Amino acid sequence: MSVDRRAAEKRLAELAKLLAEANIAYHREDTPQISDAFYDALKRENAALEDAFPDLKRTDSPTDQVGAAPSETFSKVTHAKRMLSLGNAFDAEDVADFVKFIRNFLGLDADAPLAFTAEPKIDGLSLSLRYENGELVQAATRGDGETGENVTANARMIADIPQSLIGAPDILEVRGEVYMSAEDFQALNARQNQIGGKSFANPRNAAAGSLRQLDSEITKSRPLKFFAYAWGDLSEPLADTQMGAIGRLKSLKFQTNDRTKLCQNEAELLTHYASIEQDRADLGYDIDGVVYKLNDLALQARLGMRSTTPRWAIAHKFPAELAWTWLEAIDIQVGRTGALSPVARLKPVTVGGVVVSNATLHNEDYIIGRDSKGEEIRGGKDIRIGDWVQVYRAGDVIPKIADIDLAKRPKDAEKYAFPTTCPECGSDAVREPGDAVRRCTGGLICPAQAIEKLKHFVSRGAFDIEGLGAKQVEQFHSDGWIAEPADIFELEERYGRGLQQLKNREGWGQKSANNLFAAINEKRQISMARVIFALGIRHVGEAGAKLLAQHYGGWAEMETALTAAVIGDSAEWDDLLGIDGVGAVMAASVVNVFHQPRERASIDRLVAHLQIEAPAKTDTSNSPVAGKTVVFTGSLEKMTRAEAKARAEGLGAKVSGSVSAKTDLLVAGPGAGSKAKKAADLGIETIDEDGWLALIGDG
Ligand code: IVH
Repeated sequence: MSVDRRAAEKRLAELAKLLAEANIAYHREDTPQISDAFYDALKRENAALEDAFPDLKRTDSPTDQVGAAPSETFSKVTHAKRMLSLGNAFDAEDVADFVKFIRNFLGLDADAPLAFTAEPKIDGLSLSLRYENGELVQAATRGDGETGENVTANARMIADIPQSLIGAPDILEVRGEVYMSAEDFQALNARQNQIGGKSFANPRNAAAGSLRQLDSEITKSRPLKFFAYAWGDLSEPLADTQMGAIGRLKSLKFQTNDRTKLCQNEAELLTHYASIEQDRADLGYDIDGVVYKLNDLALQARLGMRSTTPRWAIAHKFPAELAWTWLEAIDIQVGRTGALSPVARLKPVTVGGVVVSNATLHNEDYIIGRDSKGEEIRGGKDIRIGDWVQVYRAGDVIPKIADIDLAKRPKDAEKYAFPTTCPECGSDAVREPGDAVRRCTGGLICPAQAIEKLKHFVSRGAFDIEGLGAKQVEQFHSDGWIAEPADIFELEERYGRGLQQLKNREGWGQKSANNLFAAINEKRQISMARVIFALGIRHVGEAGAKLLAQHYGGWAEMETALTAAVIGDSAEWDDLLGIDGVGAVMAASVVNVFHQPRERASIDRLVAHLQIEAPAKTDTSNSPVAGKTVVFTGSLEKMTRAEAKARAEGLGAKVSGSVSAKTDLLVAGPGAGSKAKKAADLGIETIDEDGWLALIGDG
């Protein structure tokens, strides 16, 4: 054995520490810090050293830690129908907007009847149960909505979940919430304390931790419950209405929530909301709002969905929970776009069952007591270190500071001076006119920006590279191995030859280095939406990235269009703005990145390493309008403009607001004017509304 004794002893100590930390992160905090593959590699390295030097085996050897290590993870399940989340309403005005939006979309008058269901929003985790010919065949968590984790064995341990159904459609996916009652939660925590096990912060975490167990015997011992409130894939409809469908699920022996009520109008929704809020503490389980769903399923289908949320439903959240505590310090964090974000460090306090020790302070105006329009907030009171502050949190939103108590302000508390240089790189931090945020001007030379960009790049919705998490990115960056994304794909070539360099680093061995390079290589082929999201462009989240990928249909097409685009003035700009869900701010941000020489060079370098997959066309194989650019003009009688646009896009067409040489088809209703004339001049095919409906098969 070439490793000497002393080195082996030292390494065994390191491994014991690393693996113990990993175990805690994974099991106690439910937030793994290293990949399972890396974990396994460390374990194997440890075992090999112990084999070679049996007398060096430690009393706290990781080999002897039973039941701690995940021997495997859950397999992945691709949902047959996407699992959606919900948009939020926080007050009656938001609810009014929601109802108005639906009326407008469907072209209904203000007095046309429109019924909704209202039901408690359960604070648990959603689960999709697939039944085939009446038998439960699969249970999956929501995951990112498209792919979840296969937890079938565990779901079978939940008494509320029937194993088989009588009289169900051949294919039925039932969706609902797994939760733990308040009473069971208390009892579980008491029991865990007794046996020295992990206790949970709240029932939601307890439910999640209990369902996501590799050992289903553990799930069995945990009192989980399930409410059914929605469905996915179906071989035949359950009913014509939401209320009817819930009734059907109930008759199939699912637990449905008895506070689900059919409401005939907005006023009834608000009354039911108030009644549920009133009884909140006595329900016996945690809820964080009331969900409203349009009752008529045919109308639900017409409304369809946005990228992650249905247009026909909304969650009306309860007001935030509050608590008072001391503000101990203000730290400045530098984000990937250079934004200097002030964070309040608080004396830990429990707010609605969760211990809070940090809160966002947004930006410097917020600290001095002004909102984005320059108007006073908190009566103009500024926030100082040492203040007695009121903290609130609404759902899983980051805690914020609602108020401060001037009577308790220490006499020597000074006004907070917001830094004008970046605390990370010392570059000037400037505020552009009209921007609420002060930004570091260091760009890629600012280590904080570069690191945050890289962390974002490897994160879950982006490149998601196994074994390359936030910690490894920091390590590689501080050693100068990676400065920008493309460097990741050159790591092996530059530092891995013979693995000499990487495998000799602390925390790395031959296996883990090999695994890392394999994981990186695996991601050289990747979807276009992930690449766009990974770039970390301001204002472009996962949904925005998907919209761009879908719209352009290929990297080269997007690159050409964005290179030619001039903000506010070009066909490509109009085309970009024409995407439903892309506003001027996001569009400008995207165009800017492609015109900024350094950014562009960095993107081009990255792209050269990749095989970017164009997005799969959404079931438009037999769509007559897929890939066509369509313009609607004049008045439409059988559908609203919004509905026509959503339907056309669902069929793979691009809908534009103006006629140009790129237009393939003009749909002109009565009163069409200049657009119809322009189309005629350009020789563009023009049809009327009935012609359109016939063309797309809705006629
Ligand atoms: S309906 C079709 N109903 O809230 C829309 N969701 O914030 C699918 N949730 O992911 C959701 N109670 O986990 C619906 N009565 C309820 C709910 C509920 C809790 C959860 C669900 C969803 C999340 C969205």
